[in-house]
Amino acid sequence: MTKHLGGQVALITGGASGMGRGMAEAFARDGMIVAIADMRGDALAATTAELAEAGLRVLPVLLDVTDRAAWVAAVDLVERELGPVQVLVGNAGIGLTGMMRDMTYKDWDFSMGVNFGGVLNGLMTVLPRLLDRGLSGHLVVTSSTAGLTAVDGAASYCAAKFAVTGMMEALAGELHGTGVDVSIFCPGPVQTDIGANLDRVRPAHLRNEHVTEDPISPKSPVVQSLFMTAEEVGRRVLAGMKRRDLYILTHPEFAGGIAARSEALTRAIPDEPPHEERARYLQQFGTLLLNPVYARQQKVVPA
Ligand SMILES: NC(=O)c1ccc[n+]([C@@H]2O[C@H](COP(=O)([O-])OP(=O)(O)OC[C@H]3O[C@@H](n4cnc5c(N)ncnc54)[C@H](O)[C@@H]3O)[C@@H](O)[C@H]2O)c1
Repeated sequence: MTKHLGGQVALITGGASGMGRGMAEAFARDGMIVAIADMRGDALAATTAELAEAGLRVLPVLLDVTDRAAWVAAVDLVERELGPVQVLVGNAGIGLTGMMRDMTYKDWDFSMGVNFGGVLNGLMTVLPRLLDRGLSGHLVVTSSTAGLTAVDGAASYCAAKFAVTGMMEALAGELHGTGVDVSIFCPGPVQTDIGANLDRVRPAHLRNEHVTEDPISPKSPVVQSLFMTAEEVGRRVLAGMKRRDLYILTHPEFAGGIAARSEALTRAIPDEPPHEERARYLQQFGTLLLNPVYARQQKVVPA
């Protein structure tokens, strides 16, 4: 049965630009009450005004997702203005890449701090409120295809995105039966400002003396035009949430790579009979050997 989300309050991080903005637009058109959080005040104001021109009202919230105290203040503000947050989208992220031998600790702290820490901080703030109130809800994160298969020159990005994917898979199992759904959005390339925004959001204490970063998004408008638009992505995320998809994937071009990884893992399992007594012992640890969360993902047939 399709999930009804109209009237629910949604907080989207990184909502001033790109995919977060695309989701804000799709959610607001579908009747959700939307707040967009971002650390760039100018972009927040511009996006809020542009969406208003299209007849869509969103509440702008200034927030650096790496700041835990600010998270509490931001969610308090949204709840005062709009009501309890039922939908959280941990989407704010940066595209820091570079060969591992060239990366500094500052690069790692910046990348993991935003791409993993920012998502974690949002969950730590919103999840207890949702569960304490007994409300239904939806926790969505923007991982990436790079959170499912590894990419050379993107070790810190993959580390953060794989961490997000794993955390949310475990959380999805924990939340079964609570009325709170989990969706892990793993897009391929999308037309956004992720490359240009990298420098705009990098804090002074995490800047390198020498520039090492190599933004992932290509600057060429011709190449960008091959990519999916943020508006389409927003609509696809909403459709995936309504289907209660565990994974929201958008780009069929990545099917071979994802299958190759799954098959490599299967091939790596020792071709020998399992130790019966050990297996029986391990079965008592709930989902350790087999997590039913994977069986819940249905075959996605595009509308
Ligand atoms: N663009 C792609 O091709 C692509 C592909 C796969 C996954 N992603 C992921 O999608 C998400 C959205 O990225 P996008 O492509 O729309 O980029 P974007 O730069 O257009 O939007 C990201 C937004 O996050 C904000 N942000 C960054 N750091 C922040 C912080 N510390 N606190 C608050 N806001 C912060 C930025 O100001 C920006 O408005 C990211 O998590 C990214 O890793 C992007």
